[in-house]
Amino acid sequence: AGKPVVILGVFVADTAYRAGRQPRMGETILGNSFKLGPGGKGSNQAVAAGKLGADTTFLTRLGVDAFADMARHTWQAAGVKAAVIDTPESYTGAAYIFVEETTGNNAIIVSPGAAMLISPADIDAHAGLIRSAGVFVTQLEQPIEAALRALEIARGAGVTTILNPAPAARLPDRIYALCDYVTPNETEAEELTGIKVSSIDDARRAADSLLEKGVGAVIVTLGEKGALLHTKDRSDHVGAVNAGPVVETTGAGDAFNGGLAAALAKGVEPLQAVNFACAVAGISVTRPGTAPSMPTLQEVEALLART
Ligand code: RIB
Ligand code: NA
Repeated sequence: AGKPVVILGVFVADTAYRAGRQPRMGETILGNSFKLGPGGKGSNQAVAAGKLGADTTFLTRLGVDAFADMARHTWQAAGVKAAVIDTPESYTGAAYIFVEETTGNNAIIVSPGAAMLISPADIDAHAGLIRSAGVFVTQLEQPIEAALRALEIARGAGVTTILNPAPAARLPDRIYALCDYVTPNETEAEELTGIKVSSIDDARRAADSLLEKGVGAVIVTLGEKGALLHTKDRSDHVGAVNAGPVVETTGAGDAFNGGLAAALAKGVEPLQAVNFACAVAGISVTRPGTAPSMPTLQEVEALLART
Protein backbone atom coordinates (compact mmCIF):
# COMPACT_ATOMS: atom_id res chain seq x y z
CA ALA A 1 0.00 0.00 0.00
CA GLY A 2 3.03 2.32 0.22
CA LYS A 3 3.52 5.01 2.85
CA PRO A 4 0.53 6.47 4.73
CA VAL A 5 -1.44 9.33 3.19
CA VAL A 6 -2.95 11.86 5.62
CA ILE A 7 -5.50 14.33 4.28
CA LEU A 8 -6.84 17.36 6.15
CA GLY A 9 -10.05 18.84 4.82
CA VAL A 10 -13.80 19.02 4.67
CA PHE A 11 -16.65 16.57 4.19
CA VAL A 12 -19.99 17.94 3.04
CA ALA A 13 -23.12 16.36 1.66
CA ASP A 14 -23.33 17.21 -2.04
CA THR A 15 -26.84 18.12 -3.15
CA ALA A 16 -26.63 18.04 -6.94
CA TYR A 17 -29.32 19.57 -9.15
CA ARG A 18 -29.25 18.90 -12.89
CA ALA A 19 -31.08 21.51 -14.93
CA GLY A 20 -30.88 23.26 -18.29
CA ARG A 21 -29.72 26.48 -16.66
CA GLN A 22 -29.48 28.25 -13.30
CA PRO A 23 -32.43 30.28 -11.98
CA ARG A 24 -32.19 34.06 -12.05
CA MET A 25 -32.62 35.95 -8.74
CA GLY A 26 -36.28 35.78 -7.70
CA GLU A 27 -37.03 33.01 -10.19
CA THR A 28 -37.95 29.35 -9.58
CA ILE A 29 -37.36 26.78 -12.31
CA LEU A 30 -37.92 23.04 -12.52
CA GLY A 31 -34.85 20.84 -12.44
CA ASN A 32 -34.42 17.55 -14.31
CA SER A 33 -33.09 15.55 -11.36
CA PHE A 34 -31.64 15.69 -7.87
CA LYS A 35 -29.02 13.54 -6.16
CA LEU A 36 -27.68 13.52 -2.61
CA GLY A 37 -24.20 12.09 -2.09
CA PRO A 38 -20.92 12.43 -0.20
CA GLY A 39 -18.65 15.33 -1.16
CA GLY A 40 -16.24 17.96 0.11
CA LYS A 41 -12.85 18.32 -1.55
CA GLY A 42 -10.71 16.79 1.18
CA SER A 43 -13.07 13.89 1.75
CA ASN A 44 -13.33 13.23 -2.00
CA GLN A 45 -9.53 13.16 -2.22
CA ALA A 46 -9.36 10.73 0.70
CA VAL A 47 -11.98 8.47 -0.92
CA ALA A 48 -9.99 8.52 -4.17
CA ALA A 49 -6.73 7.63 -2.39
CA GLY A 50 -8.44 4.97 -0.28
CA LYS A 51 -10.09 3.30 -3.27
CA LEU A 52 -6.72 3.25 -5.01
CA GLY A 53 -5.36 1.19 -2.14
CA ALA A 54 -3.41 3.87 -0.26
CA ASP A 55 -3.29 3.65 3.55
CA THR A 56 -5.36 6.82 4.01
CA THR A 57 -6.49 8.80 7.07
CA PHE A 58 -8.82 11.80 6.83
CA LEU A 59 -8.67 14.52 9.50
CA THR A 60 -11.67 16.81 9.96
CA ARG A 61 -14.53 18.02 12.16
CA LEU A 62 -18.11 16.78 11.71
CA GLY A 63 -21.38 17.73 13.33
CA VAL A 64 -23.39 15.05 15.11
CA ASP A 65 -26.15 14.47 12.55
CA ALA A 66 -27.30 12.44 9.57
CA PHE A 67 -24.69 13.89 7.20
CA ALA A 68 -21.96 12.85 9.65
CA ASP A 69 -23.27 9.28 9.41
CA MET A 70 -23.07 9.57 5.62
CA ALA A 71 -19.43 10.65 5.97
CA ARG A 72 -18.48 7.69 8.14
CA HIS A 73 -20.21 5.17 5.86
CA THR A 74 -18.50 6.69 2.84
CA TRP A 75 -15.03 6.45 4.38
CA GLN A 76 -15.62 2.94 5.64
CA ALA A 77 -16.65 1.75 2.17
CA ALA A 78 -13.52 3.34 0.65
CA GLY A 79 -11.16 1.95 3.29
CA VAL A 80 -10.40 5.42 4.67
CA LYS A 81 -9.56 5.80 8.37
CA ALA A 82 -11.17 8.77 10.11
CA ALA A 83 -9.60 11.17 12.61
CA VAL A 84 -12.75 13.12 13.45
CA ILE A 85 -13.37 15.74 16.10
CA ASP A 86 -17.09 15.60 16.89
CA THR A 87 -18.58 19.08 16.93
CA PRO A 88 -22.14 18.99 18.29
CA GLU A 89 -22.33 22.80 18.50
CA SER A 90 -22.21 23.05 14.70
CA TYR A 91 -23.45 20.94 11.76
CA THR A 92 -21.98 18.78 9.03
CA GLY A 93 -21.86 20.95 5.94
CA ALA A 94 -23.51 20.72 2.56
CA ALA A 95 -22.83 21.89 -0.98
CA TYR A 96 -25.34 23.16 -3.51
CA ILE A 97 -24.15 21.87 -6.90
CA PHE A 98 -25.78 23.06 -10.09
CA VAL A 99 -24.93 20.71 -12.98
CA GLU A 100 -25.66 22.05 -16.44
CA GLU A 101 -27.48 19.28 -18.29
CA THR A 102 -25.92 19.77 -21.71
CA THR A 103 -22.25 20.16 -20.67
CA GLY A 104 -21.90 18.48 -17.28
CA ASN A 105 -20.23 21.71 -16.05
CA ASN A 106 -20.98 22.89 -12.54
CA ALA A 107 -21.37 25.85 -10.20
CA ILE A 108 -21.12 25.27 -6.44
CA ILE A 109 -21.89 26.87 -3.07
CA VAL A 110 -20.20 25.03 -0.20
CA SER A 111 -21.04 25.65 3.48
CA PRO A 112 -18.49 23.63 5.51
CA GLY A 113 -20.23 23.96 8.92
CA ALA A 114 -18.28 22.17 11.66
CA ALA A 115 -15.15 22.03 9.50
CA MET A 116 -14.91 25.85 9.67
CA LEU A 117 -14.04 25.34 13.35
CA ILE A 118 -10.88 23.31 12.64
CA SER A 119 -8.18 25.23 14.51
CA PRO A 120 -4.38 25.18 14.78
CA ALA A 121 -4.89 23.61 18.23
CA ASP A 122 -6.83 20.75 16.59
CA ILE A 123 -3.91 20.26 14.24
CA ASP A 124 -1.41 20.26 17.12
CA ALA A 125 -3.51 17.57 18.80
CA HIS A 126 -3.01 15.42 15.67
CA ALA A 127 0.65 16.28 15.07
CA GLY A 128 1.71 12.66 15.58
CA LEU A 129 -0.67 11.49 12.86
CA ILE A 130 0.63 14.11 10.43
CA ARG A 131 4.28 13.29 11.18
CA SER A 132 3.61 9.60 10.54
CA ALA A 133 2.52 10.28 6.95
CA GLY A 134 4.52 9.72 3.80
CA VAL A 135 2.31 12.22 1.95
CA PHE A 136 0.18 15.00 3.47
CA VAL A 137 -2.55 16.78 1.48
CA THR A 138 -4.78 19.73 2.23
CA GLN A 139 -7.05 22.20 0.41
CA LEU A 140 -8.63 25.55 1.28
CA GLU A 141 -12.19 24.67 2.36
CA GLN A 142 -11.26 24.72 6.07
CA PRO A 143 -9.56 27.72 7.73
CA ILE A 144 -6.18 28.59 6.21
CA GLU A 145 -4.56 28.80 9.69
CA ALA A 146 -5.24 25.10 10.15
CA ALA A 147 -3.79 24.25 6.74
CA LEU A 148 -0.69 26.33 7.49
CA ARG A 149 -0.09 24.69 10.85
CA ALA A 150 -0.49 21.21 9.36
CA LEU A 151 1.87 22.00 6.48
CA GLU A 152 4.44 23.29 8.98
CA ILE A 153 4.25 20.09 11.00
CA ALA A 154 4.41 17.87 7.93
CA ARG A 155 7.31 19.79 6.42
CA GLY A 156 9.17 19.71 9.75
CA ALA A 157 8.92 15.91 9.72
CA GLY A 158 10.07 15.51 6.11
CA VAL A 159 6.61 14.46 4.90
CA THR A 160 5.86 15.15 1.20
CA THR A 161 3.31 18.00 1.19
CA ILE A 162 0.62 18.73 -1.40
CA LEU A 163 -1.49 21.89 -1.27
CA ASN A 164 -4.51 21.82 -3.55
CA PRO A 165 -5.38 25.55 -3.49
CA ALA A 166 -9.12 25.04 -3.94
CA PRO A 167 -11.45 26.81 -3.84
CA ALA A 168 -9.47 29.72 -5.30
CA ALA A 169 -8.12 32.13 -2.69
CA ARG A 170 -5.26 34.53 -2.03
CA LEU A 171 -2.61 32.89 0.14
CA PRO A 172 -0.11 34.18 2.69
CA ASP A 173 3.37 34.17 1.13
CA ARG A 174 4.87 31.98 3.82
CA ILE A 175 2.70 29.01 2.82
CA TYR A 176 4.53 28.37 -0.47
CA ALA A 177 7.88 27.26 0.94
CA LEU A 178 6.01 24.61 2.98
CA CYS A 179 4.71 22.90 -0.18
CA ASP A 180 6.46 20.21 -2.20
CA TYR A 181 3.55 20.37 -4.66
CA VAL A 182 0.90 23.01 -5.32
CA THR A 183 -1.89 21.81 -7.64
CA PRO A 184 -4.09 24.68 -8.89
CA ASN A 185 -6.49 24.41 -11.81
CA GLU A 186 -6.49 27.25 -14.35
CA THR A 187 -8.77 29.53 -12.31
CA GLU A 188 -6.87 28.92 -9.10
CA ALA A 189 -3.51 29.51 -10.80
CA GLU A 190 -4.81 32.89 -11.96
CA GLU A 191 -6.09 33.77 -8.49
CA LEU A 192 -2.69 32.90 -6.95
CA THR A 193 -0.54 34.68 -9.52
CA GLY A 194 -2.65 37.28 -11.30
CA ILE A 195 -1.67 35.59 -14.60
CA LYS A 196 -4.62 34.59 -16.77
CA VAL A 197 -4.28 30.91 -17.68
CA SER A 198 -5.93 29.82 -20.92
CA SER A 199 -3.06 27.96 -22.61
CA ILE A 200 -0.21 25.66 -21.64
CA ASP A 201 2.23 28.56 -22.08
CA ASP A 202 0.18 30.68 -19.68
CA ALA A 203 0.24 27.79 -17.22
CA ARG A 204 4.05 27.70 -17.50
CA ARG A 205 4.30 31.40 -16.68
CA ALA A 206 1.94 31.10 -13.71
CA ALA A 207 3.85 28.03 -12.50
CA ASP A 208 7.15 29.94 -12.77
CA SER A 209 5.82 32.65 -10.51
CA LEU A 210 4.75 30.03 -7.93
CA LEU A 211 8.21 28.42 -8.08
CA GLU A 212 9.69 31.85 -7.32
CA LYS A 213 7.57 31.95 -4.18
CA GLY A 214 9.25 28.78 -2.93
CA VAL A 215 7.06 25.88 -4.10
CA GLY A 216 8.96 22.67 -4.91
CA ALA A 217 6.88 21.68 -7.96
CA VAL A 218 3.75 23.13 -9.51
CA ILE A 219 1.10 20.98 -11.16
CA VAL A 220 -1.50 22.99 -13.07
CA THR A 221 -4.53 20.87 -13.93
CA LEU A 222 -5.93 21.88 -17.31
CA GLY A 223 -9.22 20.00 -17.63
CA GLU A 224 -9.52 18.33 -21.03
CA LYS A 225 -5.94 19.50 -21.79
CA GLY A 226 -4.49 17.32 -19.01
CA ALA A 227 -1.91 18.77 -16.63
CA LEU A 228 1.43 20.57 -16.52
CA LEU A 229 4.21 19.39 -14.18
CA HIS A 230 6.57 22.31 -13.73
CA THR A 231 9.81 22.37 -11.72
CA LYS A 232 13.00 24.42 -11.73
CA ASP A 233 14.65 21.88 -14.03
CA ARG A 234 11.91 20.86 -16.43
CA SER A 235 8.35 21.41 -17.57
CA ASP A 236 6.25 18.53 -18.86
CA HIS A 237 2.79 18.64 -20.34
CA VAL A 238 0.82 15.44 -19.68
CA GLY A 239 -2.25 14.85 -21.84
CA ALA A 240 -5.65 14.05 -20.38
CA VAL A 241 -6.58 10.37 -20.29
CA ASN A 242 -9.88 9.79 -22.07
CA ALA A 243 -12.07 7.15 -20.42
CA GLY A 244 -15.32 7.89 -22.28
CA PRO A 245 -18.04 10.54 -22.58
CA VAL A 246 -18.10 13.26 -19.90
CA VAL A 247 -21.08 13.01 -17.54
CA GLU A 248 -20.05 15.31 -14.66
CA THR A 249 -16.74 17.10 -14.05
CA THR A 250 -17.45 17.97 -10.38
CA GLY A 251 -14.77 16.34 -8.24
CA ALA A 252 -12.32 15.76 -11.12
CA GLY A 253 -9.72 17.88 -9.34
CA ASP A 254 -10.24 15.80 -6.22
CA ALA A 255 -9.82 12.59 -8.19
CA PHE A 256 -6.56 14.02 -9.55
CA ASN A 257 -5.21 15.03 -6.14
CA GLY A 258 -6.20 11.76 -4.47
CA GLY A 259 -4.60 9.85 -7.32
CA LEU A 260 -1.44 11.96 -7.15
CA ALA A 261 -1.13 11.39 -3.39
CA ALA A 262 -1.67 7.63 -3.73
CA ALA A 263 0.95 7.35 -6.47
CA LEU A 264 3.55 9.48 -4.67
CA ALA A 265 2.98 7.48 -1.47
CA LYS A 266 3.91 4.34 -3.42
CA GLY A 267 7.15 5.96 -4.55
CA VAL A 268 6.04 6.52 -8.16
CA GLU A 269 8.11 9.19 -9.98
CA PRO A 270 6.37 12.60 -10.24
CA LEU A 271 5.78 12.56 -14.01
CA GLN A 272 4.30 9.07 -13.93
CA ALA A 273 2.27 10.04 -10.86
CA VAL A 274 0.76 12.94 -12.81
CA ASN A 275 -0.17 10.62 -15.66
CA PHE A 276 -1.75 8.21 -13.17
CA ALA A 277 -3.68 11.11 -11.58
CA CYS A 278 -4.93 12.17 -15.02
CA ALA A 279 -6.31 8.66 -15.52
CA VAL A 280 -8.07 8.74 -12.13
CA ALA A 281 -9.65 12.09 -13.04
CA GLY A 282 -10.45 10.82 -16.55
CA ILE A 283 -12.54 7.98 -15.14
CA SER A 284 -14.25 10.18 -12.52
CA VAL A 285 -15.72 12.53 -15.13
CA THR A 286 -17.47 9.66 -16.94
CA ARG A 287 -19.65 9.04 -13.85
CA PRO A 288 -22.13 11.16 -11.89
CA GLY A 289 -21.28 12.47 -8.44
CA THR A 290 -17.97 13.30 -6.75
CA ALA A 291 -16.81 10.72 -4.18
CA PRO A 292 -19.04 8.01 -5.75
CA SER A 293 -17.26 8.47 -9.09
CA MET A 294 -13.76 7.64 -7.81
CA PRO A 295 -12.26 4.56 -9.51
CA THR A 296 -10.49 1.54 -8.05
CA LEU A 297 -6.83 0.78 -8.72
CA GLN A 298 -7.87 -2.04 -11.07
CA GLU A 299 -9.98 0.34 -13.14
CA VAL A 300 -7.13 2.85 -13.45
CA GLU A 301 -4.58 0.21 -14.36
CA ALA A 302 -6.92 -1.25 -17.00
CA LEU A 303 -7.40 2.21 -18.52
CA LEU A 304 -3.66 2.97 -18.56
CA ALA A 305 -2.96 -0.41 -20.15
CA ARG A 306 -5.19 0.38 -23.14
CA THR A 307 -4.30 4.08 -23.65
O1 RIB B 1 -14.38 19.54 -5.66
C1 RIB B 1 -15.72 19.16 -5.64
C2 RIB B 1 -16.29 19.39 -4.29
O2 RIB B 1 -16.30 20.75 -4.03
C3 RIB B 1 -17.73 18.91 -4.17
O3 RIB B 1 -17.82 17.60 -3.67
C4 RIB B 1 -18.36 19.95 -3.27
O4 RIB B 1 -18.66 19.42 -2.02
C5 RIB B 1 -17.35 21.08 -3.16
O5 RIB B 1 -16.83 21.17 -1.90
NA1 NA C 1 -17.90 12.62 -11.53
